[in-house]
Amino acid sequence: MAEYDIAVIGGDGIGPEVTAQAMKVVDAAAEVYGFKLNKTEYPFGSEHYLKTNEIFPDSAFEEVKDKRAIYLGAIGDPRLPVGLIEYGIIARMRFDLDLYINLRPIQLYDERLCPLKDKGPEDVDMIIVRENTEGAYAGMHGFAHKGQDLEVATQTMVYTRHGVERAIRYAFDLARERNKRKTVTLIDKANAVRAQDLWTRVFAIVAKDYPDIKTEHAYIDAACMWMIKNPEWFDVAVTTNLFGDIITDLGAMVQGGMGIAASGNIHPGKVSLFEPIHGSAPKHAGRNVASPVAAILAGSMMLNYLGEKTAGNAIEQVVRGLFKTQRLKGVGTGVHGTSEVGEMVTSELRAAATSA
Ligand code: IPM
Ligand code: MG
Repeated sequence: MAEYDIAVIGGDGIGPEVTAQAMKVVDAAAEVYGFKLNKTEYPFGSEHYLKTNEIFPDSAFEEVKDKRAIYLGAIGDPRLPVGLIEYGIIARMRFDLDLYINLRPIQLYDERLCPLKDKGPEDVDMIIVRENTEGAYAGMHGFAHKGQDLEVATQTMVYTRHGVERAIRYAFDLARERNKRKTVTLIDKANAVRAQDLWTRVFAIVAKDYPDIKTEHAYIDAACMWMIKNPEWFDVAVTTNLFGDIITDLGAMVQGGMGIAASGNIHPGKVSLFEPIHGSAPKHAGRNVASPVAAILAGSMMLNYLGEKTAGNAIEQVVRGLFKTQRLKGVGTGVHGTSEVGEMVTSELRAAATSA
């Protein structure tokens, strides 16, 4: 039986609750489809930091490196300085594990979930490939004359040929594998951010290796418009770290809300990190009201990544079916109990496997 070592970080706010439901679902899938997840839980997050002054100790980081995958609930707490815990935990893993792809599917499971008029599941089915280690997030920032009237703050966007090319290639491979519209859209702002001309050029070069894949281009501002007006135009889109961050929140709304959007921070072939896109939502923590659907779908992405595609896809199909048949009414806060949704998905998954 295949066994996979997984690190689990529930994190802050609603993180631990939604993680518990996601783990319930992936464990059920493991049982039904015959593999094993050996989970090691880590307590890191804001609460842990406030208690111990520890963010992500090197010894734990070394352990996590040797796992097959990492599952993260949510991180962030308004009591701490902006960015401290985000950079210490999420960004540290993204950078130090070189998780250079942030894969964010935007898929509408049922028309009712979509705020756009006359758009259905066939119209909203795309994946954003967000470059995940460079750009505005590379950490090249500084302050001069801090705290004075003359203060200057700078942050440099960093793009390397290597970093840009591997993200673009990943997007082309994905479009081929998806075999849908066989299109990759480059989203940038090269007309204003001139350094992104590197993206323009590398995209054209890489495209030559994929004659079967069509190419499109949209500036980020226009892409925001198209995503609302004609989401059906998108198949795979590749973009910079910051633009990918922004457009995937927009995408999350189009597919039904933050409660549904999942992501994978991936280094193909190496330990990779899976998380719902939503934050820690402290005000909803501990009340059993947050939707765990995004967390469950992040679990499904994790299983797919581990190679357990039958199990990963089965989870997604169950979620889709529950929306279609209206047993899942939505992902808004309090529409269902957090654990209620976990149980619904788990029992449906078991039922589907027995009837298959
Ligand atoms: C995301 C988040 C993070 C990001 C934050 C928490 C640093 O918004 O994963 O989209 O900006 O990447
Ligand atoms: Mg974000």
